[in-house]
Amino acid sequence: MPLSYDAPARLLTISTDNSTYQMKVDEYGYLLHLYYGARAEGDLSYLLTYCDRSGMCGCPHDVADRTYSLDVLPQEFPFQGSGDMRSPLLIVRDAEGTFGCDLRYKCHEIRPGKYGLPGLPAAYDEGADDDAQTLSVTLTDERLGLEVELLYGVLPKLDVITRAAIVRNNGEARVTVEKAQTACLDFVTGDFDVITFDGRHAMERRPTRRQLKNGALSVGSRRGMSSNQYNPVMILCDREATETAGRCWSMSFVYSGGFLAEAERDQYEQARMQMGLDSDLFSYPLEPGEKIVAPEVIMTYSDAGLEKISHNLHRCIRRNVCRGPWRDAPRPILINSWEACYFDFTGDKLVELAKKAAELGLDMLVMDDGWFGARNDDHRGLGDWQPNMAKLGGTVADLARRVNEVGLGFGIWVEPEMVNEDSDLFRAHPDWALTVPGREPVLGRDQLVLDLSRPEVRDNLFEQLCAVLDQGGIDYVKWDYNRSIVDVYSRTASDQGKVLYDYMLGLYDLLERVRSRYPELLIEGCSAGGGRFDAGMLYYTPQIWTSDNTDARNRLEIQYGTSFGYPCSAMGAHVSACPNEITGRTIPLGARGTVAMGGGAFGYELDLMELNDRACELIKSQVNTYRTIEHLVREGLFYRLTDPKDATLAAWEFVSEDGAEALVCAVVTRVDGYGLANYVVPRGLTPGASYRMVSNGRVYSADALMDMGLPVSVPATPYESFMYRFERVG
Ligand code: GLA
Repeated sequence: MPLSYDAPARLLTISTDNSTYQMKVDEYGYLLHLYYGARAEGDLSYLLTYCDRSGMCGCPHDVADRTYSLDVLPQEFPFQGSGDMRSPLLIVRDAEGTFGCDLRYKCHEIRPGKYGLPGLPAAYDEGADDDAQTLSVTLTDERLGLEVELLYGVLPKLDVITRAAIVRNNGEARVTVEKAQTACLDFVTGDFDVITFDGRHAMERRPTRRQLKNGALSVGSRRGMSSNQYNPVMILCDREATETAGRCWSMSFVYSGGFLAEAERDQYEQARMQMGLDSDLFSYPLEPGEKIVAPEVIMTYSDAGLEKISHNLHRCIRRNVCRGPWRDAPRPILINSWEACYFDFTGDKLVELAKKAAELGLDMLVMDDGWFGARNDDHRGLGDWQPNMAKLGGTVADLARRVNEVGLGFGIWVEPEMVNEDSDLFRAHPDWALTVPGREPVLGRDQLVLDLSRPEVRDNLFEQLCAVLDQGGIDYVKWDYNRSIVDVYSRTASDQGKVLYDYMLGLYDLLERVRSRYPELLIEGCSAGGGRFDAGMLYYTPQIWTSDNTDARNRLEIQYGTSFGYPCSAMGAHVSACPNEITGRTIPLGARGTVAMGGGAFGYELDLMELNDRACELIKSQVNTYRTIEHLVREGLFYRLTDPKDATLAAWEFVSEDGAEALVCAVVTRVDGYGLANYVVPRGLTPGASYRMVSNGRVYSADALMDMGLPVSVPATPYESFMYRFERVG
């Protein structure tokens, strides 16, 4: 079984197929972390060292041995007040405002199945198939009446361990939680790099790899959203780790609001990696009987480089985080109206676009921003989710019917969490926006954020959305969120330190209500492109618009970076017009197609009416191609063959889980004078097998392909692009 307890040694061990995680309750009741690494048996507590280096380090009063200090020892759930001066997961204050607690082991329980977190997103198990278990360890501070329940979920076949923590006030006075992070990994030894996924609007999630030196290295978000700037995925790895070699550990936050991810190397050159809620804009009072849940962190370990980390995370997110009928279904190929017409459309124009899309073989038209209220530009109208009948030439359902008649499904864009000051909703309920009394609010794209911590605000939005969706004909919703929260003030909050967390609970409640009422609806997340691209959103929306940047050159980097933590099935990837609206770059339609088809949930967002016949033919063939590779992109194992930032050839690959099929994609990104031939070296093929290239029928040895590679583009020309399908033939 994945979980075991060795009572005499007080050891708790978690085993997955290829990893072991062990912790120990020591003689003083502190819960020490021993190990997370390659699968191992037995008692690993010999890893702890108690040499006399704790002079001047805090030693708990009841510990006779002054060489003992939590400042030195690896811990499961470090808290402020124990003498550990590194970054803690938990900081609390009692009713008098005094900092500190002292958490000791009370009990534990092993349960079948993986725990869930009511009201919050969390990975789930698929019954007996997953052989999942839960470990619950309770720590208490008797003086405060504080209890922390540490939850560990094990998905053994995926090599995934999840964590969450529930902080309960069982005492008689208020306790205020000033910091509540979820997970920490302490390493007694090792020399590491840290990889974070950083960027900005329209340039999200590019990996930054840095050596971990003494001190703390942190990324996070105080924006009320996981953010375009930093993503809540962090990887710690051996300094020499590559795609295919070296030890790596990752943490992914299953939460869409503010976060903090930190890696620290301490005075004794020990490392700590941790993740959880942002604490800068957080201070959460718990009255007696109340609790707060520190949201889930997914952890995985690889002894074979970064690729395996990604494979573990992709499998887990695809199958154990995403939900609903779209989880395993081919996604519709979209034509989205945004880059095709922006606000400048009518119902008739969209029907024309739909007709053209149908001719080209696409599946669904998405009516993006601009269909409701007075929304003919981005200064007004958010909050008023009634269709602009004059513009649409009828109701949304009427338009959906017309689009269905030409053979396409129909979807709409919404941004329910926002309101413009110039809207009927704001005029009626100015207090529903998050603004600070007596201070002019900070605007973002001329909009304010609605206070989703308030049930009446959520009810109103739910009713408005239902009024549109109940009319029928809507198969898809793009759920956008286009600014950060700056003014953290709710008219009804008992304490303003609770607002950002309660906002997220409110958002998840609203999303869950929409999901349950319309179980067949495909919801695509979006947030100024990829500003809320996280495992939390993927629990509600199985795909997310990866970035507002649709320039194929930049998308190669954005998709490359995103792939470390997220499967391609989660990434919205569209072909747009050239010159690109953001970069001004012109890239041939062929390469734009390769990047988007090999990027994830495929579609177009350009004015199809402006295309010449040649482009239309090419689009038809791209659509046909996509249908033959879609299953590999959605479910295949993903291989990053080159780093597109540095390489002259951006190359990546999908291999079906059974190794029977592979797809190698490549785009020439740079050509130098009389350049060298580009070879692409696939991975993950079945050793010893032969593969037939579908386009030319030629048979290749898998071993030779994975050794010397395959020459593509000789000589290279800029933005030549390739998609090679292989089938195993023996
Ligand atoms: C955001 C999204 C875009 C588009 C616009 C509409 O920027 O990322 O895709 O939907 O909003 O206003």
